Amino acid sequence: MKRRAVICTLAGAVAGLAGSAPASAAPSMITHKIPSSGELLPVIGLGTWQTFNVGHKAEERLVLEQVLREFVTLGGSVLDSSPMYGAAEQVAGDLAFKMGIRSKLFIATKVWTYGREAGIRQMEESMDKLRARPIDLMQVHNLQDVHTHLATLRDWKRQGLVRHIGVTHYMAGAHEEVARLIKSEQVDFIQINYSAGEREAEQRLLPLARERGVAVIASRPFVGGDVFRRLRSRPLPPWAADIDCRSWAQLLLKFVVSHPAVTCAIPATGKLEHLRDNMQAGYGRMPDEAQRALIARLVAA
Ligand SMILES: NC(=O)c1ccc[n+]([C@@H]2O[C@H](COP(=O)([O-])OP(=O)(O)OC[C@H]3O[C@@H](n4cnc5c(N)ncnc54)[C@H](OP(=O)(O)O)[C@@H]3O)[C@@H](O)[C@H]2O)c1
Repeated sequence: MKRRAVICTLAGAVAGLAGSAPASAAPSMITHKIPSSGELLPVIGLGTWQTFNVGHKAEERLVLEQVLREFVTLGGSVLDSSPMYGAAEQVAGDLAFKMGIRSKLFIATKVWTYGREAGIRQMEESMDKLRARPIDLMQVHNLQDVHTHLATLRDWKRQGLVRHIGVTHYMAGAHEEVARLIKSEQVDFIQINYSAGEREAEQRLLPLARERGVAVIASRPFVGGDVFRRLRSRPLPPWAADIDCRSWAQLLLKFVVSHPAVTCAIPATGKLEHLRDNMQAGYGRMPDEAQRALIARLVAA
């Protein structure tokens, strides 16, 4: 924890020198290592649930194109989708292709069906929609038919069709099953709900993932967005400036990515202003244990 805090702080100090908005010559976003591959991932990614499910309307796609361009410009890389998210894979894939940014993205999606053949068909479709072959990370969505799909994915990883494999769930009630799985199966990643408003993973799953060398993507860092309804009317605590936070969103994201087991967070947004806000959480100083506890207390209040 201490070593990572120092690294984050050093990176933060450099980011601080350049001001809040990283220009082209500015330092990169803070990164964390994927334990199994050693690859570095920027700590703030982008979710696509609901926000990228927009179909073909030009004006709706234009906004998302701006969001995705800015995401990459501000140092982002991890883009998370699923065949469960309607048109999101297609929209993200079309936009990334149009902008020629595939090489800058770490594309994660999921398999969400029953049966080996259906899983293979769905994953092939996802790779086509996302124009990502190999795909950077394929995850079994909500542990659905998990052992069947993991068998396929282990084989696909050997063949080089996927670079990393993982499992996801979004409810604390499933953490025990995820924990059992990472003890018995070899996965590179888990994606679980973790935020200042949903801290159950701290008890067992996050320490276990760290011990087993499994990367962690934190979904629902804003508890699905609900948390803003309560926080919006409250002023930021004065010490937020000590960790380079100018908004509640930045405090919430820094809470998540400063946990030593967390590799990155994937807040979802379809708004440019929110995207810019969120990306700043990947720069500057990170909260220490005492500040993390304060953030959690403010959210719980
Ligand atoms: N089972 C699974 O595998 C699973 C389950 C859940 C989620 N996920 C993944 O995790 C991602 C994130 O989770 P989530 O989408 O449920 O919830 P979330 O990221 O916790 O919250 C998203 C909500 O926060 C709002 N928001 C974003 N940035 C904001 C800002 N700076 N200020 C104010 N509001 C802001 C968004 O609205 P605006 O669009 O208005 O900004 C949106 O309504 C998903 O998109 C998905 O990729 C996976």
